[in-house]
Parts: sequence; structure tokens; C-alpha cells
Amino acid sequence: MKSIIIIFCIYISIAQALDNGLAKTPPMGWMSWERFRCITDCDKYPDECISERLIMEMADIMVKDGYLDAGYEYVNIDDCWSELEREDGKIVADKKRFPRGIKFLSDYVHSKGLKFGTYLDYGTKTCAGYPGSLEYLETDAQSLADWNVDFIKMDGCNVDTEKMVDGYIEFGRLMNATGRPIVYSCSWPAYFEFYRKPTMIPDYEVLKKTCNLWRNWKDIEDSYESMLFTADYFAEHADRVSPHAGPGHWNDPDTLLLGNFGLTYEQSKAQLAIWAIIASPFLLSTDLRTITPEIKELLLNREIIAIDQDPLGIQGKQLKKGYGIEVWVRPVLPRIGNEYSYAVAFVSRRTDGHGYAFPYTLADLELKNKNGYIVKDLFNLKRSTFEMQENDMTEERVNPTGANFYKFTPIENNREL
Ligand code: GLA
Repeated sequence: MKSIIIIFCIYISIAQALDNGLAKTPPMGWMSWERFRCITDCDKYPDECISERLIMEMADIMVKDGYLDAGYEYVNIDDCWSELEREDGKIVADKKRFPRGIKFLSDYVHSKGLKFGTYLDYGTKTCAGYPGSLEYLETDAQSLADWNVDFIKMDGCNVDTEKMVDGYIEFGRLMNATGRPIVYSCSWPAYFEFYRKPTMIPDYEVLKKTCNLWRNWKDIEDSYESMLFTADYFAEHADRVSPHAGPGHWNDPDTLLLGNFGLTYEQSKAQLAIWAIIASPFLLSTDLRTITPEIKELLLNREIIAIDQDPLGIQGKQLKKGYGIEVWVRPVLPRIGNEYSYAVAFVSRRTDGHGYAFPYTLADLELKNKNGYIVKDLFNLKRSTFEMQENDMTEERVNPTGANFYKFTPIENNREL
């Protein structure tokens, strides 16, 4: 009887959550797709092609320039890394671009103290036409384990949506069976909610039990419009989507664009602030060799990283919008008495030339601590913190298409004594 109860308890715990112990905070790192796409001609584009050299150079810089110290630990290759045909049933790396194979690269990345990730697709082919995993789930799960992979993005091109849920669950099971703990990034919600018509609502309870993170929406591209299109999805669907985020399981709005061609400095601040509020993975997809000091400083801003990585893992949301200004809020630690601290981003979509001024009170932000808050400016750490009480009116000026970002920490009761 006792053993039946034990088996039942084990079954229950397996059934209720993906418990690989990984991604307790949103994963941070670098990923090739948005910036480097499927550039495979290394003769013509030696600095940009998807290759062993690119990945090794990014790994080197992540260590040397302080990204790893700040928390960016995964180095992930996206699509276009393999040969176009399998060999003896196995996926093999492109021999010209990855002459020493994936295990060598994984070892190199690990030797730097980083973690290594790569990409597969649950369909017959990847989105860019490389071999898919559909008939090879067990073989591919074993290859990941043999290569000591730490993170897998499993894409969902070229397969029927009806097959996806069971297939992704099966692949997760096969990865677990190898004994190698691998962060599991799933793409099926993006296919359900955006790419396949008619659209479908994925079962987020199943997702949470199966995957550490999942892409919900369209691929991000290198423009302000694309960034806002994604932000709008998370604003509009917050009630449905946000509650499913938490330690071990995250919504993924796709990579940060910072450092690329499409966003201005102000717009870069807006993406960083919104992505931190919605507890997004902080995955960079940029050329770290050419990034400007200003953008690097944004990406290495420890206060903002701490918001994104807050241990409570509560996904924030857009609280309100009006006059082209949006207010995004997220509860974070420390919690003082019954009150959380809050990260608050004021995001402007205005384009009227100067920082638009608007006044607000704590009540406008729905912040209720009766002793008020200490407010810290997260983008401009040199500006001193200030205190805000119930009846105070503060004027905020947000630059066109930019964002201001603050942390409000409740003031303790005993200060009155
Ligand atoms: C899909 C994914 C992208 C990227 C490409 C690669 O479009 O959503 O993030 O992985 O495939 O081909």
C-alpha cells in the first residue's frame, strides 16, 4: 500500500509541473536569429555567417565585456546550423561552417563559464529548410544530451498544429529520459496564436507543465513597429497570458533588439523597460563586437536586470494608457508588510518633439502603502532617489518614443516611531 501511495505521489508531481529545476528566473543570454538570420555564405560574409567563429566570438565577448557577470549566460545558435541532410539518421553540423562539430563548440562555450543552446524544429524541416525532428525525436534528444546542450529552442514549422501538443510533450519526455537537464523553449503557442489560421488558444496549463518558456507571438523584427506589435499583444492579452508566467515557466516575447539598426536610443529604453516588466527572457540578438557604449550600458544595467530577474517571477502588465503615454507596472521584491515594491515604466508613443509632461499621484499608479514610497530612477542611476507620499503630485516627462523607468519601494511603518 505504501509503495502504491509513493508511486501515486510521484505521478502527481510529474503530472503537475515541469520540474527540471531550470529557468527559475527568465533565461538570459544571446541568440543568433534576429540579427544574423540564415546567413550561411561565409566567403561573402565572414563576420556574420552562422558559424563556429561567430558563436565563439560572441562567447568571448560575453565574458570579456561583462555580459556573463551581469547574468547573460546562454549562447544559443538558432536555425541554419546543420547540414541539409542527416547522416546515419543524425543531425550533423554544417561541415564548412562548424568544422569541429557541435560538441567542440559546446565544450568551448562551457570552458568560458557560459551555457550552450541550439535549435531544432518539431516538423519535417526547420523554418529555413534544414532537417526537422519529426521522425527523429529520440535520436535528436540523445544528440542534445551527447553534445551537453543546456537550452533547446524547438520550433514548429512544417507540421500540423494538431500534432504539436503531444509531440512537444513527447520530446520533453525524451529529453528528460537522457538525464541531461535542458531548458526547453517551445514555439507551439506562436503557431496557435499567430501563424496558423484560424488561430487557436493554446492550453497554458499544459505549456507550463511541458516547457520552461514559450514564444507566444510573431517573430520580432528590427523595427519600432515590430516591437510595439509584440508589446500590444502582451498589453491586450495580459489577463489571459500573464498569470501563467512564474519561476520555471515564462512567456517569451522574443529577443531584445537593442544594438541593432531599427531602434533609436529612446526606443531601446522602451523595449528594455517593457520586456523587464513582462518578465521576459533577456536574450540579446545583436553583434556584441560593434555595440555602442550607450546601448551596452543599458543592457548591463544591473537595476533593470534585477527587475527582470525578480525572484517572485510575477509578470507585470500595462496598467493604463492615455495621451500616448502608457504606464506598465510589475510587483517585485522587497515586500514590506503587505505591500510589494513595484517597477513602473512610463512609455511614450508620442512624437511631438519634447518630453511630454504629465502629472501623477501614487493613486494613479494604484500604489497603496500608507507610508509612501522611495522612488529610484532606473535609467539614470546618478539622479538621487526621491520620496513620494499619498498626496504628492509628481510630473513625469518622457521623451518621444522613449521610456522612464522607476522602482517604487514601500517605506516601512516603524520610520514613524
Ligand atoms: C521561426 C522562429 C524564429 C526563428 C526562425 C528560424 O520563424 O519563430 O524565431 O527561429 O524560425 O528559421
